[in-house]
Amino acid sequence: MCGIVGYIGKREAYPIIIKGLKRLEYRGYDSAGIALLNGDLKIMKKKGKVSDLEASITGESLDSTLGIGHTRWATHGEPNDVNAHPHTSSDGKLAIIHNGIIENYQSLKTELEQKGHKFKSETDSEVIIHLVEEIKKSNNCSLEEAVRLSLQEIVGAYAICILSSDEDKQLIAARKGSPLVIGVGDGEFFIASDATPIIEYTNNVVYLDDYEIAIIKNGKLTLKSIEDVAKTPFVHTLEMELESIEKGGFEHFMLKEIHEQPKSIRDCLRGRLIPKDNHLFLNGMSQYMNKFLNTDRLIFIACGTSWHAALVAEYLFEDIARISVEVEYASEFRYRNPVIRENDVVIPISQSGETADTLAAIELAKSKGATIFGVCNVVGSSIARASHAGAFIHAGPEIGVASTKAFTGQVTVLAMMALILGLKKGTLSESRYRELLFELDTIPDKIQKILENAEPIKRIASTFQSAKNFLYLGRGYNFPVALEGALKLKEISYIHAEGYPAAEMKHGPIALIDEDMPVVFISTKDATYDKIISNIQEVKARKGKVIAIVTEGDKDIQNMSEYTVQIPKTEDCFIPLLSVIPLQLLSYYIAIYRGCNVDQPRNLAKSVTVE
Ligand code: F6R
Repeated sequence: MCGIVGYIGKREAYPIIIKGLKRLEYRGYDSAGIALLNGDLKIMKKKGKVSDLEASITGESLDSTLGIGHTRWATHGEPNDVNAHPHTSSDGKLAIIHNGIIENYQSLKTELEQKGHKFKSETDSEVIIHLVEEIKKSNNCSLEEAVRLSLQEIVGAYAICILSSDEDKQLIAARKGSPLVIGVGDGEFFIASDATPIIEYTNNVVYLDDYEIAIIKNGKLTLKSIEDVAKTPFVHTLEMELESIEKGGFEHFMLKEIHEQPKSIRDCLRGRLIPKDNHLFLNGMSQYMNKFLNTDRLIFIACGTSWHAALVAEYLFEDIARISVEVEYASEFRYRNPVIRENDVVIPISQSGETADTLAAIELAKSKGATIFGVCNVVGSSIARASHAGAFIHAGPEIGVASTKAFTGQVTVLAMMALILGLKKGTLSESRYRELLFELDTIPDKIQKILENAEPIKRIASTFQSAKNFLYLGRGYNFPVALEGALKLKEISYIHAEGYPAAEMKHGPIALIDEDMPVVFISTKDATYDKIISNIQEVKARKGKVIAIVTEGDKDIQNMSEYTVQIPKTEDCFIPLLSVIPLQLLSYYIAIYRGCNVDQPRNLAKSVTVE
């Protein structure tokens, strides 16, 4: 949901900002813009991708050591050159970039228009810079003070960077609800929505907190609250590697991330799982074990793919730890006046750790006294910091907009949690626990095997690249996988797809089946195997095209399906970690055959920081 970058220091700002915007393009890519300060403000902005902006800048002087840049995911106002950021004040001396939504922008805009401000764009963001200009003029105060007072009037979410051609060289940034990281170099500072634009210059970062303002000038960073209370910057050391945010020889980030899964799961298990020592340990969970043991239910909140991981958790925790589970869409939970009790353990799941709906649901649950145990990928993210405790999935940066390795990382952490709790509660015997630990340890190699045998999946993708619809059906542990397979396909190939519990098909969707309907059955040898065979027959009887994901060596389903993809055998509770892999590849290759931009699908953004 929009990426922002800023630089102040001794180097040329433009190349740093352009490169940073490319790294942040996964957050939005419908327009981009840059402001450079060198005496005057120079604003360059363009509809389209960062590369379109770059191509449009020719023969101009880009001399400047201070600048800001923005890549947009439109909320207010269509994607065009005018609505692209940066936005400027009426006198043209102030420029702003903004990520978030200003909820009271309409009333502020009306007031400012009455005072003579002329707005150029349809965005909510432009109102902030006019407000700062107005307050600066009417209070005759510094820019820093005007920003602070303006933010007190603003309702909504923001991460902003502001430049002024009127004052000494400085960069002002602030946040509430949208992420902002400051990289601290040697006499230079980098600002970005996440650490990826910063990592090649420094690994010292300060995470700005809500209601904090950063003022960077004369080689110094000063932090204060919007109430004017001085804050001490806390410098964290980033552990991210530069290679982890580059494509590493793959054509797309999505394909790279699909192929990274054996490694990302090993990283997730590292130090936590040592089967020969009967060792499975999650530090965050052990600290809150009493809460887990004393609650009679777990509430999972998440969105999108992370919500599908939460659905897998429902099967895992009920099956293994015999604890009741509720799975909630974060966006619905919040507005439903849900019953939340003090002894509830609420588990938000989020790759980015910045999803606005999930964050808002956490705040609600926290206000009712629940314990929040976050399962996140991004260290230092808002959700990780808003949680009482948690477990990171350690998947490394996920840049492809369609989530892949985050899903398997989430399911891995959730499986570990369920096993730990099952043993503690005595719902899992020691011997079964041990068997499952050994099996979990084999999952990365089994995923590797699936990845090495992608040819049948490519052939299926080629055959069905022009399909108008797809159905994905699964039962038990494979039901959430069916939903995830359908989501992957629709978001990157724009083919309409639905996921269903296989047995529900006969209650409606079966009417859709004819000879043009590809139906993907996730039909591994598990507790629901015999039942799903009947569902396959029902589809065949209506001439549907059956594509079955089966367990290695399964002849029965192979004989009755037009297309099969084999995956290695594993315990039922770990099947989603394997069965999702062919579906990720299928959607990837279909999208490639259709000529779609898989890393930047239309209308989407990676990090959904608006509600
Ligand atoms: C789908 C996808 C989205 C996210 C959802 C939640 O491929 O990426 O559905 O899963 O926006 O995002 P996080 O996990 O960052 O909270």
